[in-house]
Amino acid sequence: MALHYKIGFIGAGNMTQAIIRGLLEAQALTSSHIFASNRSPGKLQKVTDTWKINALSTNEAVVDAADIIILAMKPQDMNTALDPLISAFRDKQVVISLAAGVPLATLEKKLPNCRIVRAMPNTPAILRKGVTGYLTSEPDPGLESLTEDIFSPLGTVLQVGDEEQLDALMISCSSGVGFVYELMMYFQDWIEERGFDTQTARKMVVETFLGASALAVQQKDQPLEELQSKVTSKKGVTAAGLESMRELEIERLLRYSFEKAALRNQELAKQT
Ligand SMILES: NC(=O)c1ccc[n+]([C@@H]2O[C@H](COP(=O)([O-])OP(=O)(O)OC[C@H]3O[C@@H](n4cnc5c(N)ncnc54)[C@H](OP(=O)(O)O)[C@@H]3O)[C@@H](O)[C@H]2O)c1
Repeated sequence: MALHYKIGFIGAGNMTQAIIRGLLEAQALTSSHIFASNRSPGKLQKVTDTWKINALSTNEAVVDAADIIILAMKPQDMNTALDPLISAFRDKQVVISLAAGVPLATLEKKLPNCRIVRAMPNTPAILRKGVTGYLTSEPDPGLESLTEDIFSPLGTVLQVGDEEQLDALMISCSSGVGFVYELMMYFQDWIEERGFDTQTARKMVVETFLGASALAVQQKDQPLEELQSKVTSKKGVTAAGLESMRELEIERLLRYSFEKAALRNQELAKQT
């Protein structure tokens, strides 16, 4: 079912492009209902050429044209983008910020008359396989269902309880996409070292991750441990590998990396 909202993107970078593509391919919105501006003209031209959306030359024009404004610039560009725009927003206009590390309280201080949501999507939204977390400062069923309308065509949508949970979702699901590729590269390197060419090794890894995920999706009531036990016979090959992973405390190392990412997120939040 097509949404009737007019959605405006300030910033036409990677995340905006992923969301636009996901929404259009899901036929959740028509391109005539999408507006965008960007600091430099190149990306905006590309987005317009590809999806025939409405490119506008100023951020003010986007705020004016759309019902819902998505702030899709990097966190460090937020103040420069938003400060000159503040008077352009209408009373109760919906603003959805994608910026990591910019708390709701900061946005609400800048735009006290707007209805504000923080949303954290990830790039598989392009394929409508994304995970988007969102947070509003207080319960607002209208705003919550509107946010779910926009992001559910792009995959799974989860309302989180507080900013700490939104950060955890960002690290595990948005940065998490990068972490998963890192693991995939380790697999691929190992396979290539055994004589497989790059393309074949890549395919073997990607299909293994995809297959494992698809099984977990299909058998959603089974804990992951049970799915794992199905490929692990006692004293067998998989068991030996898993035992070594546990002895090497790979979980502890990964947790450490997650915490490092969380610290960096806090540092960036302080800078903005
Ligand atoms: N990428 C992800 O996986 C992901 C996941 C979750 C959340 N996010 C969040 O989504 C936001 C966008 O990330 P991204 O990866 O899409 O970044 P990006 O590719 O760098 O896109 C940001 C865009 O904002 C534009 N911009 C900067 N200042 C502007 C201004 N004053 N007015 C209009 N446009 C302006 C930039 O224009 P130029 O062309 O001039 O650089 C750029 O095209 C970030 O806040 C990020 O934290 C990203």
